[in-house]
Parts: sequence; structure tokens; C-alpha cells
Amino acid sequence: MKVSNRPVSANSNEPFNISEYLVPAREIKQAGQSDVSFDGLLQRPLLLKEDLKDGCGGQLWPAGMVLAKYMLRQHRSKLVDKTIVELGAGGGLVGLAVASGCEIGPSPIYITDQVPMLSLMEANIALNNLSTVHAAILDWGTPAPTSIPRHPDVILAADCVYFEPAFLPLISTLNELLGPDSICYFCFKKRRRADLRFLKLAKKALQVTEIKDDPDADTYKRENIFLYSIRSKPGAIATKDDNL
Ligand SMILES: C[S@@+](CC[C@H](N)C(=O)[O-])C[C@H]1O[C@@H](n2cnc3c(N)ncnc32)[C@H](O)[C@@H]1O
Repeated sequence: MKVSNRPVSANSNEPFNISEYLVPAREIKQAGQSDVSFDGLLQRPLLLKEDLKDGCGGQLWPAGMVLAKYMLRQHRSKLVDKTIVELGAGGGLVGLAVASGCEIGPSPIYITDQVPMLSLMEANIALNNLSTVHAAILDWGTPAPTSIPRHPDVILAADCVYFEPAFLPLISTLNELLGPDSICYFCFKKRRRADLRFLKLAKKALQVTEIKDDPDADTYKRENIFLYSIRSKPGAIATKDDNL
């Protein structure tokens, strides 16, 4: 499986090949452009501009790789007529992969993040000429913009668990968006023990179920990457994290 990165600046690096499960946490990364084919699951590799200047979403993250590959493998032809929203999309890796390789429509896919990521999301949509993807601002814990579907059929979220103050806002946004028929495909990499607190909190408010139909699971679990489905749990709302 190949991810290559071509630095934009004059200090060019050799392109490098790395496992897409094991995209290392690169603390300082040069702005550049990657192409990602997900082991050939995408006929036409996705082009992704990466730039960390506006935040951590400006690079590829391991759980995003896992989730994109899972969607391309297991949901390629199951998304027609579905409304789809991605949370914490960063540069848009997952949503763009789904738009590029899965049968979707007629609704566009909405990839969302905070304000600083908007220009990167838009740049990557343009780079891949994917008019079926729309970028929007959705800051967890604040009301979702009216431009995105109120209760999307499918929510995608990858590598959104890493910052404790954001745990409850993220759960609040999931609560807001998940309708009775919605499902969120949620992939995260556990880096610290604190990340498990997110799961505890989420399980209080939502139905969280491990996904078992991914043939790659044994491989990425060894890297502490976990894939869940999340659905609404009527009547349960997490507002504070006591009793954990
Ligand atoms: C580790 S990155 C993952 C990016 C992408 N999903 C991927 O897998 O490559 C986490 C993303 O969550 C976004 N994020 C963090 N806090 C957020 C918040 N309160 N509201 C919306 N997005 C947030 C960040 O801006 C960043 O793009």
C-alpha cells in the first residue's frame, strides 16, 4: 500500500512508502502533497495537500487511513441515496476517499472541521475535482450548520479522540446529528490511557459497538486502532464526565 509525499518546498525529500495503518505521528512535517491509492482500492489515487500550519488536521492520520479503507471495501455500493457527513475531517481524507471510490449520491458528502481547516478541505476537493464533496464548518459542541443534513444517514469520524476537552463536545455533536436511523463509523487510535475515557463517556450516551466485518482488524488493533459503529441511544445524554 502506498502513500507518497511530494514536498512543495525547495527542500525536496525522496518520496517514501509507508504502511497506511502505520502512518507515523510526524511531529513536524513539511507541507506537501500525497497520493493515496489504498492498496489499489481507488483506481485513481487521491491527491491530498498536507500542511500543518493551521492545525493537526493538515496531515494524514492512521485512523483515517483505516476508516477510508474499510468504507471502500465494505460499503462501496451501500451508500447510494445516503446523506453523509464527516466530522473532524482535517484535509478530508475519508470523505474524499468515499466520494472517489464508493457509489454515492445524489446528495453530496459534507466534510466538516473547524474554521482553520476550511481552506485545506476546499483545496483538496478542488485538487481531486470532486464536486460531490462540500466543505463546511462544524465545531463540536456548537449547533451544526443548517447547510448539512440534520440527521445524516452516515457519519464518518476518524482520529477525533486525542484532546480531552473535546470529548464531551464531540459526544454532544454526535448526539445532535445521530437520528434514529443514523450510523457513525468511528475509528480512533488510542495513544494515551485518557483516550479510553472517551469510550466510557460515549457508551453512556450512545450505542457503541465494535465493528467486526473488517478483515484488516487484527492488523490495526495491534497498533491500538479501533473501529466502532455508533448509534443514538434514546433518552441518554452525556453532559458531564463524573462517575467514571
Ligand atoms: C487528528 S486530526 C484527524 C483528521 C482526519 N479525520 C484524519 O483522519 O486524517 C483531528 C481533526 O479533528 C479536528 N477537530 C478537533 N477539535 C475539533 C472541534 N472541536 N470541532 C471540529 N473539529 C475538531 C481537528 O481540526 C483535526 O482536523
